Amino acid sequence: MDAINDLKKEHEGIRLMLQVLQAVSRKLGRGERINAQHLGGIMEFLSIFVDKCHHGKEEEFLFPALEASGIPREGGPIGAMLAEHDQGRRIVSELRDAVKSYNSGDKSAADSIKEPYRRLCRTADTTYRKGKHRPFCNGGREIGYSQRQ
Ligand SMILES: [Fe+2]
Repeated sequence: MDAINDLKKEHEGIRLMLQVLQAVSRKLGRGERINAQHLGGIMEFLSIFVDKCHHGKEEEFLFPALEASGIPREGGPIGAMLAEHDQGRRIVSELRDAVKSYNSGDKSAADSIKEPYRRLCRTADTTYRKGKHRPFCNGGREIGYSQRQ
């Protein structure tokens, strides 16, 4: 099993989801109604796949392996990534409540999902499309992380 390749494939999946998030954000901006099942599916992907599975693996295995190789946790790229994960969690948590209201038919909830959606797009764009996670994968390979899994 190559853990680094798995993480890279997950990044590809997350970049695809970013395109979906951006499309939803544009529709919300135009005042279009979004299908409740689609919004629910997106929330599940963000909570289960992105946060629990992907970020969980990075935080539990990759980051500690990089730290053990001498990269400091604080004041460097690991700390920056952890801060981005936390920022994403806060936005997703905020969005979860707003999506519940929106899906229950509360018309005013459209405004309350628009703004966190925009923020989530910006955060995911910085982290995933602009490739900030790539050096981590490469760093992990350099220290032999994938062989240890
Ligand atoms: Fe990642």
